Amino acid sequence: MTTKSTNITWHGADVTQEERQNILGQKGAVVWLTGLSASGKSTIARRAEQLLLERGVTVYVLDGDNIRFGLNKDLGFSPADRTENIRRIGEVAKLFADACTITLTAFISPYRADRDRVREIMPAGTFVECYVNASVELCEQRDPKGLYKKARAGQIPEFTGISAPYEAPAAAELELVTGDLSVDQAAMAIIDYLVKNGFIKA
Ligand code: ADX
Repeated sequence: MTTKSTNITWHGADVTQEERQNILGQKGAVVWLTGLSASGKSTIARRAEQLLLERGVTVYVLDGDNIRFGLNKDLGFSPADRTENIRRIGEVAKLFADACTITLTAFISPYRADRDRVREIMPAGTFVECYVNASVELCEQRDPKGLYKKARAGQIPEFTGISAPYEAPAAAELELVTGDLSVDQAAMAIIDYLVKNGFIKA
């Protein structure tokens, strides 16, 4: 998207990123959970958030349904709207990470190109793509919100996995197969990655 405004100037902070990291004792990252509806994104993100808070880490979850109640209430589920949804969330997540917050995002984000665009705007190494891998069959069995049932009945158009595509990541930093892992194991895999890569202390 091109910038519409003219006569605008970028203002950086007086404190450097390194100083901010040293003071806060952590580095910002965006852990981008992607996967089908009911794959477990929000549940894992919430659990990881809880465990990180208990360790004293500053962390925040940006969650699909919630963001659509506010910031993105003007967007639906057409390909163009999903792209704009992810673009805006990417920009917001980037700001959170710039503030050194561990930012966990839980959006279907079905298009590879949309996720790649977020990766591109982030400082190198700070975008952690996390594929929450569960088959359509498994998600449909779980169906906690009854949405697959509605989609099968033709009551929800363009439903991801049924009548709209999902493009799985080709090379995600993390892959969590939620049929095989407990919620705690999946959350711990995220935390281990953050420790190993120096975003938070052990
Ligand atoms: S995304 O595709 O644009 O990334 P997002 O994660 O924000 O989607 O929202 C997905 C949530 O919206 C789902 O968990 C589900 O509760 C709800 N939803 C409503 N309609 C649809 C639809 N057509 N496809 C997928 N999810 C939908």
